Amino acid sequence: MSIDDVSLISGPSSSDLANKIATHLGVKPISAEVCIFTDGESKIRLPHFENKTCVIVQSTYPPTDRHLLQAMMMIRKCSETDCTNIIAVIPYLAYARQDREFLPGEVVTMSVIARLLESVGVKHLITVDAHSTASLSHFRISVHNVSSIPLFAKYAEEMLDLEKPVVVSPDLGGASRAATLASILKTDFIALNKNRDRSTGEVKIDTDEPRYQFGNKDVIILDDIISTGDSIVKAYEAIRRFGSTGKIIVMCTHALLINNATQKIINAGVDKIVATNSIPNNFSTIDLSPIICSPLQSAMSMH
Ligand code: R5P
Repeated sequence: MSIDDVSLISGPSSSDLANKIATHLGVKPISAEVCIFTDGESKIRLPHFENKTCVIVQSTYPPTDRHLLQAMMMIRKCSETDCTNIIAVIPYLAYARQDREFLPGEVVTMSVIARLLESVGVKHLITVDAHSTASLSHFRISVHNVSSIPLFAKYAEEMLDLEKPVVVSPDLGGASRAATLASILKTDFIALNKNRDRSTGEVKIDTDEPRYQFGNKDVIILDDIISTGDSIVKAYEAIRRFGSTGKIIVMCTHALLINNATQKIINAGVDKIVATNSIPNNFSTIDLSPIICSPLQSAMSMH
């Protein structure tokens, strides 16, 4: 397969990231023309293209359902052409936290999304730091879950003035992410014990027993998603309660930062927030395009 046979479509939510990926691959991105009607509906128009391989780049951060539907609309349009290999690059995969039935009667929405993406014609999905492996198990197509942790490690080493920072996951589910970052940085990690009330959403972190002697060591709190900011604020408070007097930096792949999340985190005392460009905002300093290109090239060579 030659790169000339690839059309890379830059979705409305991810134009900057799509342009960066296109530059790495040496292709000219195709911009989707979007119009939002007064009732909220999207209309999308793609220019004519004839290539056999299509790559659609569209992250599904809020407005989540709109971005998700736009992704499906673009994929569907590609599948109506002669294109035989459709690759969706969805760095932030919305609904991944709804990967199982937590309370009886809940819809496992990730399973619905997987069926919908498959039905419009996706052959390969590339995502970044998906919330859980359970979320990806709903897909029947090939899925590549890229880890951004090496980029965070590089950033910490080159851009942050931290001495052997302790890596902290706010919850046990993120323990292996924290362990991976700590092992690259050759430092310690711990996972806090977080619980979320499934009905109210309230977050609590167990501070009964000191989990680590932080002293004046710097700390990196690592999480996959910041939504309301409550998990980060509670983790920050727990770390301080465990005696930490060093700097506390937050690193997060998908910084949704809903409502006043940023203010809550800054007011708590966090020194810095570092996030990726899966969601473009003031904190998205880490560019994911270099780590997306390699699985993308593999998917492009498959049919
Ligand atoms: C949950 O398990 C995730 O890893 C994040 O910790 C969570 O989604 C963050 O949400 P919030 O910012 O609303 O606490």
